[in-house]
Amino acid sequence: MKTICFKNYQELSAYTAAEIADAIKEKPSLLLCMASGHTPALTAELLVKKLLEEEIDYSQITFLGLDEWVGLPRENEGSCYHFFTTKLFEPLQLKPSQYFLFDAMSGDLKAECTKMDAVIDSNGGIDLMLVGIGMNGHIGFNEPGTSFTALSHVIELDETTKSVGQKYFKEKTALHQGITIGLGHLINAKKVFLKADGKRKADVIKKR
Ligand code: PGA
Repeated sequence: MKTICFKNYQELSAYTAAEIADAIKEKPSLLLCMASGHTPALTAELLVKKLLEEEIDYSQITFLGLDEWVGLPRENEGSCYHFFTTKLFEPLQLKPSQYFLFDAMSGDLKAECTKMDAVIDSNGGIDLMLVGIGMNGHIGFNEPGTSFTALSHVIELDETTKSVGQKYFKEKTALHQGITIGLGHLINAKKVFLKADGKRKADVIKKR
């Protein structure tokens, strides 16, 4: 594992956007998994800019959304679906067959997990993962204590996740469960970037 410290959020985001773009150039059929949230927001913006300006061919990539709030309609602006759609899929005009997101409104969440695991398996694992870290140390919705071999699963959210998660919503939102790609997939991924931004994440990074 390598740790890199950046001067600021802009530099951190530019670095990861460039790494993703290079990975796409190297492997046009890249299986890319990204988290939503505040940390990757600028990376997504810079990645779109880079791919379009440099005319990098991303027509063969497959994109996976790391997680989603269970029971939250996709049109809710705080949903991961909304993040990925507005920040990546629409600006890049990705074809629906190029991305897989959990349908957290589905009556069969187990089937959603099975579908996600099948996409990952059929591609031979995730090539590149870009994840953040929560104030309680979670990665995606792999809350503290989650097994390192867990595949996609539904989880009861930690109290910290429920309260910190309010920052994504315009009004107070009841959050109970999350659906997430598991740590087993992260451990098997070919490359992972775990990003943390700001002093408030320093303690949790030290503990990891
Ligand atoms: P953030 O979320 O990027 O919005 O800080 C990170 C997380 O909770 O996983």
